[in-house]
Amino acid sequence: MKAFLCKEFGPIESHKVEEIEEPVAGPGEVVVDIKATGISFPDVLIVQGLYQFKPPFPFSPGSEISGVVESVGEGVTLHQVGDRVLGSVGSGGLREKGVYSEHQLMPLPESMDFQTGAGFPLNYGTTYHAFKQRGELKAGESVLVLGAGGGLGITAIHVAKAMGAKVIAAASSQEKIDLCIKEGADEGIIYQRDMDRDLQKKFSDDIKEVSGGGVNMIYDLVGGDYAEPALRA
Ligand SMILES: NC(=O)c1ccc[n+]([C@@H]2O[C@H](COP(=O)([O-])OP(=O)(O)OC[C@H]3O[C@@H](n4cnc5c(N)ncnc54)[C@H](OP(=O)(O)O)[C@@H]3O)[C@@H](O)[C@H]2O)c1
Repeated sequence: MKAFLCKEFGPIESHKVEEIEEPVAGPGEVVVDIKATGISFPDVLIVQGLYQFKPPFPFSPGSEISGVVESVGEGVTLHQVGDRVLGSVGSGGLREKGVYSEHQLMPLPESMDFQTGAGFPLNYGTTYHAFKQRGELKAGESVLVLGAGGGLGITAIHVAKAMGAKVIAAASSQEKIDLCIKEGADEGIIYQRDMDRDLQKKFSDDIKEVSGGGVNMIYDLVGGDYAEPALRA
């Protein structure tokens, strides 16, 4: 079978697709016929050795997968051959078949296609963890999302709205704000990419005005110049 392999850390173009042996499920493991793989920013860092997580060589990048269970190892109870699954697997996704612990996989709902499933766990899981376990966001509260037009930003709008919160989306262009509103944000604020002290003050004032005096939570996906004015507001 084919696999995109990283045998040593290096630039993205130094890694190649190669033929490898098909995987076999050991005890507690599941072989998945992979239909889609999610590639995220960390994957780009991992193959270059620039991320804190360093898988043993050789490995395939790709931290999220979806597919169909092809075989199961001894003692597996959570999945059966033929099940549609998705998984947040750390790495190992960019190959035709992968072998994973049964606990790294979960059922892929019938209503979700393979591509959507392979982009789901990292983006939505990160935001859900932030809002539910860390921030304990409550219905009726308000959240300001910085960098709201990006990958996590859009999940923040979906998750916060599903939790009953009010969402103020902040981004660097009208186009991004339009997208955020279409995805469910209640309000939008455009900020400048590079802010001096005056622009930071204006951003802070804009947040106060739109929110009616401040928000309960800030989901800061960018940092830098945006963080302090958001906190001041
Ligand atoms: N995606 C995940 O599953 C995940 C999981 C854990 C952690 N993270 C981290 O969360 C942060 C956001 O991730 P993301 O997936 O939402 O990223 P993204 O889709 O690239 O969006 C990031 C946003 O940052 C803003 N930005 C400001 N300065 C930028 C610059 N110089 N270059 C690029 N973007 C800039 C952009 O919005 P404006 O132009 O509107 O400012 C952009 O939409 C990253 O630090 C990422 O490492 C992501």
